Amino acid sequence: MTNEPPNQPPFAQTEHADGQPQGAVLTFHVVTLFPEEIDQYCRTSIIGRGIKAGKLKVKTYSPRDFALDKYRKVDDTPYGGGAGMVLKPEPMFACVESILRPPDSPVILTTPQGRVFNQSLAVKLTQQTDITFLCGHYEGFDERIRSLATMEVSLGDYVLTGGELPALTMIDAIGRLIPGVLGKTVSLANESFNDGLLEGPQYTKPAEFRDMVVPAVLRSGDHQAVDRWRRERALEETFHNRPDLLEKAPLTKSDKEFLAKLKKQL
Ligand SMILES: C[S@@+](CC[C@H](N)C(=O)[O-])C[C@H]1O[C@@H](n2cnc3c(N)ncnc32)[C@H](O)[C@@H]1O
Repeated sequence: MTNEPPNQPPFAQTEHADGQPQGAVLTFHVVTLFPEEIDQYCRTSIIGRGIKAGKLKVKTYSPRDFALDKYRKVDDTPYGGGAGMVLKPEPMFACVESILRPPDSPVILTTPQGRVFNQSLAVKLTQQTDITFLCGHYEGFDERIRSLATMEVSLGDYVLTGGELPALTMIDAIGRLIPGVLGKTVSLANESFNDGLLEGPQYTKPAEFRDMVVPAVLRSGDHQAVDRWRRERALEETFHNRPDLLEKAPLTKSDKEFLAKLKKQL
């Protein structure tokens, strides 16, 4: 097992089922002790569709398959004492080194200590052909595993049980930006963060439901008025819930005037 040549995984490199076509635009490699969590999510909805369409690939690799002892041990107690178990370096290194991927492609360590994931990082990562995620579990990683990563990314200021949800979150956020994965590319245009703002409210039929009425402007057929209404609601939403975003958002003169009015109303 240990004599296998590099990049020739002897086992347990599982590709998502459903006959993923070769030559996908973007391949996600996920190193995880729980490949079934990744596979299950990626079988459904938009990411599942992107895989079927040949735009995405998701492959999972288990460090347990690279453990050297007969118990396939992947974790051990921390040096210096303390609670919990820490992921051992040897199976993780062997597992990552087995992955067939361009050598300069990003390897993302999921960790609460990393930079916080956001839409602009998602957009940047769409330029890659391969992205590898390393999912921790238990108390975390042996520090030496950090050296395998080119980037450390956190989902936010809280602690999750493992790196699978962060990896899936990033796969979803990046994957849906790949052209052809979403039904209509236009559905990305007004989404939150796309133009630096949160998205405003949306409505569908019926026009009236339990005394709640869809704003008349949306039913007016006046496209300019609808665009302005949507822009103002997006500005309002961002102003109230994420004012920090307004500092960087590209704003027009009329956006600024509208925001000045909102400030006066406070
Ligand atoms: C229980 S956590 C370990 C937390 C670690 N002891 C600490 O205090 O930073 C186990 C694994 O879940 C993943 N994880 C937990 N929270 C995360 C977050 N906010 N962002 C990204 N990954 C996270 C990481 O892969 C981490 O190694």
